[in-house]
Amino acid sequence: MKGVILAGGNATRLRPLTWVTNKHLLPIYNKPMIFYPLEAMAKAGIHDVLVITGPNHSGAFINLLRSGKDFGLKLSYEIQEEAGGIAQAIGLAEDFSDNGKILVILGDNIFTQSLAGDVLEFEKREKGAIVYGKKMATKSKQYGVIEVKHDKVISIEEKPEKPKSDIGQTGIYMYDSRVFNLIKKLKTSKRGELEVTDLNNFYVREGTMICKMLTGWWVDAGTSFDELLRANIFVAKEVSTKK
Ligand code: G1P
Repeated sequence: MKGVILAGGNATRLRPLTWVTNKHLLPIYNKPMIFYPLEAMAKAGIHDVLVITGPNHSGAFINLLRSGKDFGLKLSYEIQEEAGGIAQAIGLAEDFSDNGKILVILGDNIFTQSLAGDVLEFEKREKGAIVYGKKMATKSKQYGVIEVKHDKVISIEEKPEKPKSDIGQTGIYMYDSRVFNLIKKLKTSKRGELEVTDLNNFYVREGTMICKMLTGWWVDAGTSFDELLRANIFVAKEVSTKK
């Protein structure tokens, strides 16, 4: 299985920090944000990783990450010309995927759990997808919200007014090779994007979307200054306990 890390977007929620740089290059304690999903890929046993970013700071990504050798990875790069949403960005990985399954991690998702066991399990699965969920302290309107029966997903709603559950949709997904044809069927949402939630709902309707709960901590560091700070504090604590 190959890996895809999405590191594009305009990150308007983090301005002015992101006026002249890409959100995924901002520091999280002692490393740039993008290092964390790259390390998660390596930990998951994935070697071939595509980094998708916007045109403005793509040079900085290549200068920083180079071949990926320091992470034990082989990196490729793709440019998303305009910020057209997560599903549009995933669509850019079609050639790279070589008709195989993919693990997608949003570049601002920072978490501790290893995905290695699930990768092996998903490689054996005939078809379908996996979305990682995280139990929220309170029902959240900030994320996609997943309704689950056992581990099967019943519905996913994008930032709903009335969340049906306390399980938030994280930015970690596994897809079978049909994902690229499904993306071609998507329609632009109200916010002008191809939504990952609409993509995931194809699998939900088919009954092949499984939700795995993330253990350990998880932060979507790109949603707000508070989450960015929370990610810094989490990592700082982890580094200090390892000393
Ligand atoms: C995106 C997804 C949302 C998900 C979140 C996780 O939100 O649309 O469903 O919960 O990533 O990181 P965005 O960051 O684009 O607002």
